[in-house]
Amino acid sequence: MKPFRVFNGEVNNKATKIFKGEASGICDWDDIKYPVMLELNRAMFGEFWIEDEIRLNEDLKHYRHSLTDRERYVYNILTGMLTQLDSVANRFNFLLGYTCTDPSVAANIQLVGAFEGLHARSYQYLTSTMLNAEEKKEAFNAPKELPLLKERNKEIFELIQDFVDDPESMDKLYKALLAYLVLEGIYFTGAFAYFHSLARTNRMIGSNNMINLIKEDEVQHSVLFGTIMQILMLEFPELNTKENMEFTLEFIKRCVEKEKAWAAFIFDGIDNMTINEYSDYVEYLTNVICRNAGIQEVFPENKELRSKWILTYGSKKKKEGGLATRSDFFQTNVINYSHESGDGFDL
Ligand SMILES: [Fe+2]
Ligand SMILES: [Fe+2]
Repeated sequence: MKPFRVFNGEVNNKATKIFKGEASGICDWDDIKYPVMLELNRAMFGEFWIEDEIRLNEDLKHYRHSLTDRERYVYNILTGMLTQLDSVANRFNFLLGYTCTDPSVAANIQLVGAFEGLHARSYQYLTSTMLNAEEKKEAFNAPKELPLLKERNKEIFELIQDFVDDPESMDKLYKALLAYLVLEGIYFTGAFAYFHSLARTNRMIGSNNMINLIKEDEVQHSVLFGTIMQILMLEFPELNTKENMEFTLEFIKRCVEKEKAWAAFIFDGIDNMTINEYSDYVEYLTNVICRNAGIQEVFPENKELRSKWILTYGSKKKKEGGLATRSDFFQTNVINYSHESGDGFDL
């Protein structure tokens, strides 16, 4: 396999295509095919953070004394599950960047990969603060053991693996990218709502602050990968077929049903968020990834975020100058909510 040339003095700096094209290998940000890639690169670097910015002292007290057994279990299992997804994301981005012709797109994909590694480390920070060794083992093994979670992830991982095994196939690349959009935009982002629901009752604020930093990154990733999907369809019209569009819509619907089945199990016994609220949110998130990727909305009746508290507790304060990439992504707003003093992160 010959994915790209590190240098080719015979051709232009501007890539002819993002995959399987030609480019000199010189990344001249003033001479790129898709200028939005520079905007995205600046936006992603602008969000740089590390987990030490968050203090978890108060969270530890809450975890031990204010959470129910069920709430603790869900906290543990979800952090384990999120670690699994970020671990996969980290590796997937490595391969995708490797197969990319356009150095500006590759630079963005590599940056996403690095952030996914940071996210995995952040869950490590949460779990190593709250959980004992036995709980942590249970949490990190849950993705290998819980049937509904395994079932939910199965097809996503199969499509990504198909591309890993055969990275020359454009059809497999398209399907892996589609699976990745669901993984990031629905499976990750949906699970974050649980942490927002705890913050809603003034518990685990530090954990939720960290989740909101991660979520902000995922918002950008969804825009980047949605854009890449649109470019892929433009540059490879043979992929932009009725058959593939039908596959896309059916696949997304299947993934949403599996997410709802998993949610009904994992959020059973949780009082701060109802299954109906969660289902509405998942459908809303699905529409967002569809809009970003230029796909028709799968749930047109769920265009708006119905549970406004998800926005209230699920947003971090925007930096001055607004590095957000698309303002409608989460109906972005500046929200402050009360938290104990001494928290290191300035909300
Ligand atoms: Fe991530
Ligand atoms: Fe991501």
